[in-house]
Amino acid sequence: MCGIIGFTGKKEAQDILLDGLASLEYRGYDSAGISYFKDTGKISIRKTVGKVKDLRAICDDENNSTCGIGHTRWATHGGVTNSNAHPHKVGKVSLIHNGIIENYHELAEEYDLSSSLISETDTEVAAALFNKLYDGSPVDAIRKAARLFHGSFAFCIMFKDHPGTIYAIRNVSPMVASYCEDGSFIASDLTAFINYSRRYFIVPEYHILTMKEDGITLEDLEGNQIQPEYLEVDWDVAAAQKDGYPHFMLKEIHEQPDAFTRTITPRIVNQLPDFTEDGLPDELFADCTDITVVACGTAMHAGMVGKTLMQGMLKIPVTVSVASEFRYEQPVISRTSLVIVVSQSGETIDTLEALRLAKKYTTKTLSIVNVKGSSIARESNYVLYTHAGPEIAVASTKAYTVQMASFYLLCCKLGLSLNKITEHEAKTFIKNLQNVPNTISQVLTQESEMQRLTNRMINAQNTFFIGRSLDYTLSMEGALKLKEISYIHAEAYAAGELKHGTIALISDGVPVIALATQKHVYSKVISNIREVKARGAYVILLSKDENITDKSVCDVHIRLPESPDAFSVFNSVVILQLIAYYTAVGKGFNPDQPRNLAKSVTVE
Ligand code: M6R
Repeated sequence: MCGIIGFTGKKEAQDILLDGLASLEYRGYDSAGISYFKDTGKISIRKTVGKVKDLRAICDDENNSTCGIGHTRWATHGGVTNSNAHPHKVGKVSLIHNGIIENYHELAEEYDLSSSLISETDTEVAAALFNKLYDGSPVDAIRKAARLFHGSFAFCIMFKDHPGTIYAIRNVSPMVASYCEDGSFIASDLTAFINYSRRYFIVPEYHILTMKEDGITLEDLEGNQIQPEYLEVDWDVAAAQKDGYPHFMLKEIHEQPDAFTRTITPRIVNQLPDFTEDGLPDELFADCTDITVVACGTAMHAGMVGKTLMQGMLKIPVTVSVASEFRYEQPVISRTSLVIVVSQSGETIDTLEALRLAKKYTTKTLSIVNVKGSSIARESNYVLYTHAGPEIAVASTKAYTVQMASFYLLCCKLGLSLNKITEHEAKTFIKNLQNVPNTISQVLTQESEMQRLTNRMINAQNTFFIGRSLDYTLSMEGALKLKEISYIHAEAYAAGELKHGTIALISDGVPVIALATQKHVYSKVISNIREVKARGAYVILLSKDENITDKSVCDVHIRLPESPDAFSVFNSVVILQLIAYYTAVGKGFNPDQPRNLAKSVTVE
């Protein structure tokens, strides 16, 4: 959470910082600010509550500084106010921060910093500490302070008497950097400077970066110089732009067929799943006795789909845990357990900590991650990258679909390794998987119908999503999508569970989105739908049934393309995403930046 950027080089910094912040806004948008060196050697700050466009409006047209830092905030400590906005400045130090300094109270007391503070933030305490420890050598001050902080941090720091230089250090919170002919860049993620450099390196934890116009040096806390390990971006600049779509979310929904194909194709050899290129050894699958999936939010919902599929096909126990809970449970994991950690960003702190815990029990941790080189990808024993490309909208769409695709591939591989399916069955399974991009494309042609349909949703206070089996797991994702961007209360229920209490909330006109795509539970779900319909619900039914005409079943029938039951999830979810998107837009909300949320949740 929070986006940070720094630039020092041959170009004017202000626009680089503002444009970079605009692309980091998905990380938080409560307030924004920049600070920069002026010719006079002074450090100036511009900051405001609101978004980057509000910051742009108060920036100085004449600012020709070539060195500065910028921040877009997701508030943790202290409300959304100008004084809590970053950058903070104390004495000779100005800095920006992503993360949480957990012991800031203790530090403020121990180092007698309170008198220099004007905000309620942990960050300003850090600025005051750096200032207090500073005796002319920024690196020494950073080295000393870094050893005192408890918590997560990515800092970019400027010292008044070192004009043109930016210092940085991080623990947990992500930071990437690059030196190119325009100068030195640093940011929370590389979308912030991809227009200038396609090369970047991940800043190692507890290493001090010194960035100047003519290069970057990197050293560990003992003062040993380290060579940065540069990587090359493997996606196009256009992938991080809206490309004519009104919102990133809609663009990302439409990117799903391609993202799906990119993710599965390299893992299919001779019509069978093959993870050789990913470096996953056969032993990972061969003696697997049980599977634990750990993730948060949408990634956890992908895990729920994975569980239903894998348990059904492999006949071994599969559990799914919310990462923030898993960390404080007694995990039942043995050496033969496979732990699958799922994360789009690869930086979600609870998921990362859950992975670290799992590694104490097994060496078989496998992460399904979208962002290359992210913390979770680096720390897990094995990684399966999804190839969704950058996902910018806060509401996850294409990342979810390719996470599910990864589970399908893994399930097929495990099925073969554990002798639960034949090679012929595996080939049929893979063929069905390869057909998914076609059916998703078919679903996308129903977009305008979905837009019309949401006229009925816009004024709803409460909605329910119901289904059984795989459809139940999809209902969870449908409900999350709707509530996070349209602010309509949405609950997912196992269709058979509704009558154990929640049906009391069904009254005239309450929208119920029902999924009935699984033959083995179809008639049961239809009975459950009749129960809510009889109580006045406005039912939107998603099914493959061409014969639904009976008005006692539903008010609107959305016909899904023909596909085997296990593969319908990929089609249903697109409908659910479009319903959420057009409901939010219909209500006048920006679905890319829902209130109170940030894309990458790096606080616990
Ligand atoms: O980056 P991650 O996949 O680890 O993120 C997990 C959740 O924070 C994320 O899926 C969140 O629930 C999204 N806002 C859902 O759309």
